[in-house]
Amino acid sequence: MRHKFFQCAPRSIFICLAILVLSSGARAQSDAAKIYQKNCVLCHAIDGSGSSPSGKAMKAKDLKSSEVQGKSDAELAGFITQGKDKMPAFGKKLKPDDINQLVAYTREMAAKK
Ligand code: HEC
Repeated sequence: MRHKFFQCAPRSIFICLAILVLSSGARAQSDAAKIYQKNCVLCHAIDGSGSSPSGKAMKAKDLKSSEVQGKSDAELAGFITQGKDKMPAFGKKLKPDDINQLVAYTREMAAKK
């Protein structure tokens, strides 16, 4: 009995730690991903390319393009908050913190290109 405990304990502790580390890291990232998926995917597509049918119809810009990425964080946050042409304003729907996370997420998508 005792012998068995000592054999198994280190492994289960390791598994617990691994799960903790993995889930906390994933949570920080998936918050922005979730907000994006809920509010932006319809027009900007899952990868930010704007290749979804409504994205194409509205000529949503490729968020990964250098044209968009060349703008400052403040400018991008401004477009999301106030909208731009067919791009709806999200200032009333999302908190400023969420919008900043979305800007960071836009940079992340571009880095994955
Ligand atoms: C109803 C469709 C629609 C939705 C939903 C939408 N967008 Fe857009 N978005 C557009 C269109 C269309 C443009 C292009 C506007 C233009 O420049 O004429 C745009 C432009 C942008 C730009 C500016 C690009 C640039 O440099 O001009 C950013 C940043 C952006 N969207 C981010 C987002 C984020 C983040 C969300 C989710 C919170 C979102 N959009 C939701 C349609 C949409």
